[in-house]
Parts: sequence; C-alpha cells; structure tokens
Amino acid sequence: MQRNQCLIFVEESREALSEAGARLFERRAVEAVENSGAFFVALSGGTTPRAMHKRLAFRPSVPWHGVHVFWGDERCVPADDPSSNYGAARVDFLDKVPLPAGHIHPMPAHVDPKQGALLYARELRQVFKLKQAQAPVFDLVFLGLGKDGHTASLFPGHKALEDHERPVVAVKGGDPDLYRLTLTFGVINNAGEVVFLVSGKDKAETLRAVIEAQEPRLPASRVRPSSGRLTWLLDRGAASLLTEKIRTSRESGLSK
Ligand code: 6PG
Repeated sequence: MQRNQCLIFVEESREALSEAGARLFERRAVEAVENSGAFFVALSGGTTPRAMHKRLAFRPSVPWHGVHVFWGDERCVPADDPSSNYGAARVDFLDKVPLPAGHIHPMPAHVDPKQGALLYARELRQVFKLKQAQAPVFDLVFLGLGKDGHTASLFPGHKALEDHERPVVAVKGGDPDLYRLTLTFGVINNAGEVVFLVSGKDKAETLRAVIEAQEPRLPASRVRPSSGRLTWLLDRGAASLLTEKIRTSRESGLSK
C-alpha cells in the first residue's frame, strides 16, 4: 500500500458510501490477513458507520478468523445503553460474524474513566505485543467527523489533543455530554490507513475547513498518518462545498 497518500472518494448516496466502506474494510482485511495473518481495525462510533457495519454482517469473504476489532473511542456507559458504540456494533454485525473469542476488544466503559484508559492501554500493549513506549500500528482506523471538527472523542481545545504520551485518555464532552475514552493522535497517526466516513450536507462546511483549509483549531485537521494513507469516503452532500478540482479529480466508486 502506497504510504503518505491522501485519497478522496465521493459516492452518490449514503447507501453507496456505506457499501464503499464495507468494501474497503473487506479488501484491507483480506490483504492484512494474507500478509500477516491478522487484521487490526479500530471502529468509529456515532451514527454514520452503522449502515456500513450492518453490511459487514453479510460479507463472508472477510477473513473473520484473523480480524481483531477495537474502538477509536467509546462513551462510558453500559453496553446496552443506546449511546454505546460497542453495543451498537454488536447489534449491527459483531454478534452475526464468526469472530474468534478474544478478538473483540471493547473499551472498558464500565469502570472509572481514568482507570479505563489505563486498562485499554494495557490491552493494546498485550495484543500488539508492544514495548513500553511503543504505539500500536493499526492496519485501519475508521473515524467520523463532528460538525465542530472533532474526531473520535478529541474535541476542540481539549488537552487530550496535546497528549503525546498516552495512547488512550479519558475526556468529558460531546453530544451527549458524557465521559468518554479515546485513542490519541499518536495512535491514530501511527496507523497503516485512516479512513474518515463522512455523510450529509450538514458536515460540508466543516469538511471543507478540514480538507482544504486544514484549520488547526479543528481536531480532525490533525489526523495526518505519519507513514500511512489517509482516505476520505464521502457522499455528495458532505463533499458539496469542496472545490470542483478536489471533488471531481478523485471521484471514484469503491462500491462498484
Ligand atoms: C462518537 C464518535 C464521534 C463521531 C462523530 C460523528 O463516539 O461520537 O466516534 O467522533 O464519529 O461525532 O458522529 P455521527 O456519525 O453520528 O455524525
């Protein structure tokens, strides 16, 4: 995979965007499992990825035996709470695919948030077999984009944005305003590929500010994989304010 690349794909509709995301997940999983025997992916939370997750439930060509599922962020609520990213993913596909026991790594949302961050950092060290200061290298990290430019649970102006020591931190904020756990930029930017999945006209202005102006006050602008690829999977609504050059030069259909 070519490194340090930024790709923008604009799909016709939210459905096509979800299909493109599921296709990308499938392709990267096949590549990773063929190359190394395992595929380490961090899922995004929120509502946008759910249609994609639902499609993953019906993709037998994904080599589930080698897939390890993590999260980029989680709300500190019980798994059966409607706000739980883990709970939603279980309903949408995890309970329907043959993932081996121990391959699903939910963030510990049921303990004190600071303790949860330490526990997840320990789980990352164990699963990725890391030495103390090493950051995990995910094959793929999915991210969403908030209208305020946040991504994962890295919110504008939060001190977590400047935390370059810890792989996982506890924050409070967002909508709903909750305690959350989030990967930090050091992990996100260490991935082989980061994929933003963004849908809807309501995100168009923020997307323009991130992609074209790379506004530093917007946390999503700071997602720049150090050696990996950055991929934007957009629908037409989200891409509607991007300049024609960007929008047409990279239009493609991963969903074909
Ligand atoms: C979360 C997400 C968050 C999300 C954006 C977009 O747990 O809330 O990780 O970063 O991706 O807020 O959310 P929507 O997809 O619901 O617009």
